[in-house]
Amino acid sequence: MYSSTSLFSQQRCATTYISPNNYKQDYKSAAVTNPILIPVAVHVVWHAPEEQISQEQVASQIEVLNEDYRRDNIEIPDIHPLFDDLAADVELEFCLYTITYTETSYEGIYNQLSGGKRRVCFTDLGGHDAIAPDQYLNIWVSGRSDNALGSATAPGQASTGEDGVFIAPEYFGTTGSVSTPYHLGRTCTHEIGHYFGLQHLWGPGLENDAICSGDDGITDTPKQYSSYRNTCPSQPGNSCGTPDMFMNFMNYTDDACMALFTPGQKDFIHHILMTERPGLLDSDCTSTHTYNNLINNDIHIAPNPTDGVFSIQLPSNDIYDIAIFDSTGRLVKQMQKVSGPYDQMKLVHLTNGIYFLKIGNGQKIYIKKLIIAR
Ligand code: ARG
Ligand code: ZN
Ligand code: CA
Repeated sequence: MYSSTSLFSQQRCATTYISPNNYKQDYKSAAVTNPILIPVAVHVVWHAPEEQISQEQVASQIEVLNEDYRRDNIEIPDIHPLFDDLAADVELEFCLYTITYTETSYEGIYNQLSGGKRRVCFTDLGGHDAIAPDQYLNIWVSGRSDNALGSATAPGQASTGEDGVFIAPEYFGTTGSVSTPYHLGRTCTHEIGHYFGLQHLWGPGLENDAICSGDDGITDTPKQYSSYRNTCPSQPGNSCGTPDMFMNFMNYTDDACMALFTPGQKDFIHHILMTERPGLLDSDCTSTHTYNNLINNDIHIAPNPTDGVFSIQLPSNDIYDIAIFDSTGRLVKQMQKVSGPYDQMKLVHLTNGIYFLKIGNGQKIYIKKLIIAR
């Protein structure tokens, strides 16, 4: 097998997305100045030459994510009036850490397994290794033989090294080889929803099953069983007795007719980010992360819950950077700890609530949950 890999970084993170249409700004939440930045590694694993998508096509997908997860997509003003106040700014932004290119001898490699391992996720099996999946959202763009547009691993679901999002090249981005009606990058928007634990609006069962017992666990998405696959309705159907939110990103509606995540879905994504995928926090796309593990047993915090004064025990005398996030993923405090393995910490200015401490020494990161209750 022949495999070639080129690696480069693009520093898209620092650039603010400037909307070409000024009216769009009005729909964006003015209060949010510090979205959570998610660093992305894209692995293009190609067999047929047309699967070797361009860097521009990759960049076009990142742009779509930064519209859809910031309520900055062009569909916002046209959302059906029944649902137009339910479009949330999810407050996530995505930056491209790196793109890798790998030629593979395996056709439809996404669906090819070797000893139970998914080939596309491993360099020595004809694909490309994940980059620190605890800290980067890995997206593999490759051929598939299952007719799906894309797929994703839910939190806690993936086998080692196989965590992330998988999209067929013709449904990735908005330019180059994309194919209508899935040519606007919404497959990736949808699959990242799954990566953060969201379900389809009809719940975990099959689409179009004509029963209304399935549920996505989100209260502000109405019950529905219709999946809206291959459709672009102008009026909602009523598949479970109330109007269907067909334009939700977690349906199967055509790309051009998807428009929103709800506030309930946003809260769910943030909760999953804090509890199941905290290694993604406090990252950017410029620094090279040398961390390779997320181990929490080596750090002890007591008492916890705390009134704000507590002791922290670290595994060594290294210098540790400590970043503290609130329950919505916002950085609230940063410090450096240099004074040996035991230390007293005082967080008397923080209000009661759940916080996450991300503690790193350049080799490892640790995430600890801290509850402040007075
Ligand atoms: N997992 C779904 C599928 O492959 C993705 C649907 C995405 N829908 C879309 N309009 N892009 O069927
Ligand atoms: Zn899906
Ligand atoms: Ca619901």
